[in-house]
Amino acid sequence: MKIKNIAILTSGGDCQGMNTAINIIVRVAIERNYNVFGIMRGFRGLFEDDFVVLDNKKIANISSLGGTILKTSRFVEFKQDSIVKKCAVILKKNKIDVLIVIGGDGSYKGALALAKEGIKVICIPGTIDNDLRYTNRCLGFDTAVNNACQYIENVKQTMDSMSRGVVFEVMGRECGDIALYSAISTACDYLAVPEKPITENEFVKQVKLSIKQKNKPPMVVIAEKMFDVVALSQRLSRETNIEFKYSIVGYIQRGGSPSVADKALATQFGVRTIELIEKGIFNKAVGYKDGKIFEVDLDKVFNSDYDFDYDLLNIFYQLNSHKKQ
Ligand code: F6P
Repeated sequence: MKIKNIAILTSGGDCQGMNTAINIIVRVAIERNYNVFGIMRGFRGLFEDDFVVLDNKKIANISSLGGTILKTSRFVEFKQDSIVKKCAVILKKNKIDVLIVIGGDGSYKGALALAKEGIKVICIPGTIDNDLRYTNRCLGFDTAVNNACQYIENVKQTMDSMSRGVVFEVMGRECGDIALYSAISTACDYLAVPEKPITENEFVKQVKLSIKQKNKPPMVVIAEKMFDVVALSQRLSRETNIEFKYSIVGYIQRGGSPSVADKALATQFGVRTIELIEKGIFNKAVGYKDGKIFEVDLDKVFNSDYDFDYDLLNIFYQLNSHKKQ
């Protein structure tokens, strides 16, 4: 079957690099004589039949913008079979031959559900959390972690001048990648990530050990949901002779222009996606590992080996003179 009409949607939390991917997909697709449509607000917009035509004018100058021109949403109702079926009908009614989904794991599950309804899909990993484990890198992660580092470095200067300790909370949902990479890059003193569970008591013990070993107010990073950051900083203030503040790094991680690394990755993902369409290869997710772009069957994405960088975590512990855990 000859492919003519391609649709793109962005779904879940937006991330830097989504616009770069949209830009490259539209440019290359139009050059190769496909029609390209955008679906607004992710799966919610699909359910509401909210399609726009994408042309070179619409995607001009978007490559370096954060967010997504297609908007996005969290549409939990998409877990319902009846809604998935209705969306498949809408795609067919609009004569969409292939759907490109850019998002994280929830979006991938949505795409897989549509594939089971006979829709041809290709997924591009886009989430600052970097939690799709079949790929080393998701769009947005590099920019988010750089933003987090810049924020942490700024706050560190004032904390250091005032001889205060600080607990930073970074994003990542159930994934510790942003926490690990930002803690190691900003030379923080201790770290809590979900991949290496630790009780609050043990964490406090380790922070006290750090104070003893380094003789300075510590800067620590915790991944979101590990502990209550307010209660933890109050407890540390109470149990040490140091005043602790907390700082929730927050949405600054998800905003701003994509880094060069994210733009390059988005370009590679976008080009590979169109190549797959040209070759008639569907129901795949593109990924990046060991310097190479690859694709994997969409239904295998969730079986991937767990790929948290424990070596880097151990380097962090070694650098902070804590015993290897
Ligand atoms: O998935 C990206 C992310 O920023 C997570 O790190 C965070 O837990 C979540 O989205 C926040 O989502 P929302 O903006 O919908 O509250």
